[in-house]
Amino acid sequence: MKLTDRVLDRLPPRVKSQLDAWREVVDVFSHIRDPRVLKALGPSGVRGLLLHRGKQGVPTHVAASHRVHFDWSYPHDHPEMEALYLRAKQGQWDGDDLPWGIDVDPVNPEVPLLPAWFFDFDAIPVASRLSPKERLAFQHSQAAWMLSQFLHGEQGALFAAAQVTEAVQFFDGKFYGATQVMDEARHVEVFQRYLESKMQKLYQVNDNLFVIIDALMADGRWDMKFLGMQIMVEGLALGAFGTMYSTTAEPLLRALLRNVIQDEARHVHYGVVALRDHVRQELSESERREREDWCFEVALLMRNRFMAYEVYEEWFEGIISRAQWRQFVTDAPGMELFRSVMFSRLVPNLREIGLLSDRIRPAYEEVGLGRYFDGAAADQISGDQMLSELDAQRAAAA
Ligand SMILES: [Fe+2]
Ligand SMILES: [Fe+2]
Repeated sequence: MKLTDRVLDRLPPRVKSQLDAWREVVDVFSHIRDPRVLKALGPSGVRGLLLHRGKQGVPTHVAASHRVHFDWSYPHDHPEMEALYLRAKQGQWDGDDLPWGIDVDPVNPEVPLLPAWFFDFDAIPVASRLSPKERLAFQHSQAAWMLSQFLHGEQGALFAAAQVTEAVQFFDGKFYGATQVMDEARHVEVFQRYLESKMQKLYQVNDNLFVIIDALMADGRWDMKFLGMQIMVEGLALGAFGTMYSTTAEPLLRALLRNVIQDEARHVHYGVVALRDHVRQELSESERREREDWCFEVALLMRNRFMAYEVYEEWFEGIISRAQWRQFVTDAPGMELFRSVMFSRLVPNLREIGLLSDRIRPAYEEVGLGRYFDGAAADQISGDQMLSELDAQRAAAA
């Protein structure tokens, strides 16, 4: 063993974890090729990954700098957005109408929140030694962690939707945006209620999620907000919600997610519609390239960095290394499903808005995402179709 390794080995687990976290930060930022992307993501990376700004109590302030776009002539300027607005008005639902009376026991083996196969417990000795009861408790932690991140993401979506409503240049887009603000408020409401009344557990915001939210809240360019929230974070959300919807046995959670997925499908559709013409007609090639690179880096962040370290700290810190934990999470069959649901939605949307040119495709192929190039984009698939695909996946897995 090298001297440095011997020194490292003697450090307390907390310090070792912190060192590993810093190494990860260097890793994330050192391979970003476009300096403009580094400039856009860097400050949020420092705030989220090094300073842990999302975990330092209430409130967290983020300085916003976008321009509010007024139009005193109230034009009917975008029929596709108008149609989405009509659909959104008709699709409103009341969180109170969900079957809250259902008794949820997060560690009931008959009604598991996550399926037994979600993690491969035999992959590492320390997990294989967990008793059946401990495995259920661990799954409870993991499910609560996922739902907590859903909730924090929804808070980001609520404020981003409000910003986007101010900043967007289409008047029909502003009407539509107002319905999304309401949708996101309802999502915050139902996830918070579920966590508080059924899970009795709430985790802090994940640092990587914080980085993405912070970056798009602070960016003054309206199309970057759209890209960040409507395409990337909503894509992430659809992947995560879809995975949980198609695997959980808990009926209240399924009902809740079913409604939320319908809303989110509309939100991504709006993002695609708003960005499609803008990227193709209004951006210079250099601006387009910057956005293309930005999306790729954020996609990598979403693929590689949601490692649930908060669950690791609770269960395994000091017992296994963060590297072993990363492997365990990365290889988990449930996480594999999550990545595939997420990218099968996200990558075709990038293609549709013009951010998947021949220049960037090899980079996606290199990280194994090439198989999603030809899928259906959000304007080609409805929320109902998404739900029936997920139901079919569920039936096939059963
Ligand atoms: Fe939402
Ligand atoms: Fe949304």
